[in-house]
Amino acid sequence: MEKPFIGAAERNKEYIFEHLTEIFSGFTTVLEVGSGTGQHAVYFASKLKHLFWQPSDLSERLPGINAWCEESLTENIFKPMELDISAWPNFTEKYDAVFASNVIHYIESRYVDKFFEGSKNTLKSNGLVVLYGPFKHNNEYSSVGDEQLDLLLKSENKSFGIRNLEELKNVACLHNFEFLKSINLPANNKLVCWKKKSSNKMLNGVYR
Ligand SMILES: C[S@@+](CC[C@H](N)C(=O)[O-])C[C@H]1O[C@@H](n2cnc3c(N)ncnc32)[C@H](O)[C@@H]1O
Repeated sequence: MEKPFIGAAERNKEYIFEHLTEIFSGFTTVLEVGSGTGQHAVYFASKLKHLFWQPSDLSERLPGINAWCEESLTENIFKPMELDISAWPNFTEKYDAVFASNVIHYIESRYVDKFFEGSKNTLKSNGLVVLYGPFKHNNEYSSVGDEQLDLLLKSENKSFGIRNLEELKNVACLHNFEFLKSINLPANNKLVCWKKKSSNKMLNGVYR
């Protein structure tokens, strides 16, 4: 099969990688959600040799990701697995991190909660959720380009769209995540990190 390719993944992979080295230091396993073509998976796994990288996506994407993985000489990348954010599988082995690039705005808004709930159930205590992409702040776009992208996404599905970072923080908090940091990257994109708290005690509907 001819490998799928998108230019954006080639352009942003180095910017993202520069930060992943530090973010994933001391970690062993990363689950990538919405791996897309598989370009990121192969690149990050080849650069971060201390990690085992698990790519995943909807079933129709798996042959393309597999084509990248099979051609790669990287040994620390697992065969891509099917993972639909709307129905996460039960993982017996937990991961150190969940990484998703340009995914949170490409899913229906009702699945944003599922994303954090699934991540919580998939991660070890103190595990990280790391999101890359465009975000709104206080409902304001970071650029005209983001506004245009948002319109394009909504024309595809009115429930897609660039997420407001403050709303994501609230949803993450409901699922026992502590906001760690947001790093500005080129083209008005960000890398945003949350840590799963070790305590799982729920008080008034919120994890404390
Ligand atoms: C814009 S692409 C990003 C691909 C890749 N991560 C990248 O940065 O190039 C969005 C990805 O989200 C995946 N996706 C959409 N809905 C999903 C769902 N419900 N569960 C898992 N992945 C989903 C799509 O199949 C697609 O691969």
